Amino acid sequence: MIENYIVTILVSFVIGSILVVVALVKLVKTNIHATMFWNEIVLEKITNFVMDQSKEQRILNTVSYNAIKGNPESVLDCIDKYCSKSEWAMNVGDEKGLILDKIVEETNPSVVLELGTYCGYSAIRIARLLKPKARLLTIEFNPEFASIAKEIIEIAGVNDKVTILEGHSEDIIPQLKKKYEVEKLDFVFLDHWKERYAPDTILLEECGLLRKGSVLLADNIIYPGAPEFIKYIRNNKHFECTTFLSHLEYMKVEDAMEKAVYLGPE
Ligand SMILES: C[S@@+](CC[C@H](N)C(=O)[O-])C[C@H]1O[C@@H](n2cnc3c(N)ncnc32)[C@H](O)[C@@H]1O
Repeated sequence: MIENYIVTILVSFVIGSILVVVALVKLVKTNIHATMFWNEIVLEKITNFVMDQSKEQRILNTVSYNAIKGNPESVLDCIDKYCSKSEWAMNVGDEKGLILDKIVEETNPSVVLELGTYCGYSAIRIARLLKPKARLLTIEFNPEFASIAKEIIEIAGVNDKVTILEGHSEDIIPQLKKKYEVEKLDFVFLDHWKERYAPDTILLEECGLLRKGSVLLADNIIYPGAPEFIKYIRNNKHFECTTFLSHLEYMKVEDAMEKAVYLGPE
């Protein structure tokens, strides 16, 4: 009698566990928040622990082993392959990268600011399209990411055009004129934490870093979204906005970029 009871409990437990696992797999496959949680929190932390290195270190390793030195296209290709096949990472990616390329080419900037360097992927995308003597300043507050980006940018051979500024955007933007001899910015790529998009745009205006025709391009305005920035920029007579629909890097999830052209203070 007791044996039957134990068997029933065990069978129920096994069936219940299988159902929970099936439901979790389905959730991870269909829900972007669950997918990101699984990739970024569970899988990444386990892999970091087992391999005793960070995902960004693995991205650097794959670039070091597989990319052609001095060839930015080969470095971008290498990162895109790794991040679409092995481990997701927050580079702008190949699909939205084409939008970024198009706007950089149209703007043909002399001075570019990027907010959020990460491993240097978008910095390389931008730098490879810059005319001679043009320069890109890119801000990153995570010292590990800044040092990995430096190595990857060197492998791509665009280090003569790129300066990584290590620190918080809100601290560095007010120093751009005096410390880094920036008169005006022709192009700004906003790709750092989304809640900083609006305050840093206001800071750029207050510091007099925008000129008539300066172009801002903001990534991830749908996922994860930057509602405060979108509200600020679209209801602002000083900016003319265009939305470019696309997908989140290396995924089928909807995302978009917002281009905002500064029309001048009055
Ligand atoms: C989405 S990633 C940038 C990806 C990169 N633009 C690319 O496409 O290759 C965002 C980066 O911004 C950095 N970051 C976030 N907020 C920042 C801030 N206020 N100042 C400086 N860096 C910041 C993060 O550490 C992270 O590396």
